[in-house]
Amino acid sequence: MRAKIVVLPGDGIGPEVTEQAVRVLQAVAKKFGHQFETEEQLIGGAAIDATGSALPKQTETACKQADAVLLGAVGGPKWSAPEAKVRPEQGLLAIRKSLGLFANLRPVTLHPALMDASTIKPEVLKGTDIMVVRELTGGIYFGEKTRTETTASDLCSYSVNEIERVTRVAAQLARQRRKQLVSVDKANVLETSRLWRSTVEKLMKSEFPDIQVEHMLVDSAAMHLIRRPSSFDVMVTENMFGDILTDEASMLAGSLGLLPSASLGAGTLGLYEPIHGSAPDIAGKGLANPYATILSVAMLVRHSLKLETEAQAIESAVSSAISEGVRTADISAGGPVASTSEAGSAVVARLSQ
Ligand code: IPM
Ligand code: MN
Repeated sequence: MRAKIVVLPGDGIGPEVTEQAVRVLQAVAKKFGHQFETEEQLIGGAAIDATGSALPKQTETACKQADAVLLGAVGGPKWSAPEAKVRPEQGLLAIRKSLGLFANLRPVTLHPALMDASTIKPEVLKGTDIMVVRELTGGIYFGEKTRTETTASDLCSYSVNEIERVTRVAAQLARQRRKQLVSVDKANVLETSRLWRSTVEKLMKSEFPDIQVEHMLVDSAAMHLIRRPSSFDVMVTENMFGDILTDEASMLAGSLGLLPSASLGAGTLGLYEPIHGSAPDIAGKGLANPYATILSVAMLVRHSLKLETEAQAIESAVSSAISEGVRTADISAGGPVASTSEAGSAVVARLSQ
């Protein structure tokens, strides 16, 4: 098949990890006889430097015309002053919103060889396989903001429609998995959470009676994720809670550098990015772990291009690279350290076999 993929390298380690992910994308194209055309565009701090805007019109238009978008990371100290008028992160939020990507899938899977890379005991981790579905275009991230010298506010609002559509995505995923859904909220305090809970309850009863649903308060969910991670199947939650819980959940896998994500909307156009940030402290040193971005490419071919075999080929290539000891610094556990490009090459080599 032919597909057009816009690549947004962004800032910090973004360009390094997307470079390796694009190599993998092209290796898959070659192996399976596809033609994937990639086109780089600016976003984040790099875009601010070049154009003054974190999401230039040209980038937005290119993304809208593409079959999928692959993103590295945005942000860095250069653009982070509290008084800064434009911020790299605005570019990321704007592209998610503009493409209507309301459902952010963040799978947390554990590699057997990395059980020792996590700070959590192997016996607690055993059997952990979680899919977190984070609402991505609503809530406190997008509500009205106010600011005076001495006060500030961020509005959190949700509509039934916003809650329903993301819950449907999560429930459909649960149906293909272990048929268990945990909906996370703070219904003992927040009005938005009470709407969230009752909406999820109603929708699941009428459309997904075959899925077991449990409601969990976010503080309790944070605790149970560490206490009994293997008991979770699919989790669905609002934007801010999902942001926080997935950084936490990444530690089950051993490193933030391992977790991919897919941001999806109503159609097949999606945006794929690692859940980690731009890591300015290690940028440009060849130390970054490209596996999360490479695994995001697997999600890209799976969800936007509907190429399941190709997706699995990428996932098993990453898995065998890790098994065979190709580990970047974050997961090396005292063993040999692979550079960003060595890790990328290891995946490409396994795909080309
Ligand atoms: C993420 C990031 C972003 C978010 C930031 C960079 C705006 O932390 O994708 O998890 O909070 O959504
Ligand atoms: Mn985050």
